[in-house]
Amino acid sequence: MALYSEKVMDHFVNPRNVGTIENADGVGEVGNAKCGDIMKIYLKVNDDGIIEDVKFNTFGCASAIASSSMATTLIKGKHISEAVELSNKAVVEALDGLPPVKVHCSVLAEESIKEAVKDYYNRKGIKYNPETLEIIEG
Ligand code: FES
Repeated sequence: MALYSEKVMDHFVNPRNVGTIENADGVGEVGNAKCGDIMKIYLKVNDDGIIEDVKFNTFGCASAIASSSMATTLIKGKHISEAVELSNKAVVEALDGLPPVKVHCSVLAEESIKEAVKDYYNRKGIKYNPETLEIIEG
């Protein structure tokens, strides 16, 4: 069996949504201290809370690049509250799996999106639970 699925190879060789967004509404950056890989996500969010555009820059391994590419396709056009719920497991499933030693690469995608959403909430003055990222009303 090939080590990487066709989807992983596709998103690694031909990554979607690479780049940066000037005047982004939220930016999230995370790194993994062990492997040294870094992922940065940019969100453009409209007044209805819909993610109109998302871009990423990943300085990392093939799985990290494929994970960030897939993650951006999964949250583009979605409401910010749905992006917060994207798990690394969902990213791995959408990629038709990652080798076990590479699952941490998908965690970077989940975490960088969460950081970008936190940044968006902070800029907008939206109060949220720092653990669950649920919005605190009132
Ligand atoms: Fe660290 Fe892939 S080896 S993100």
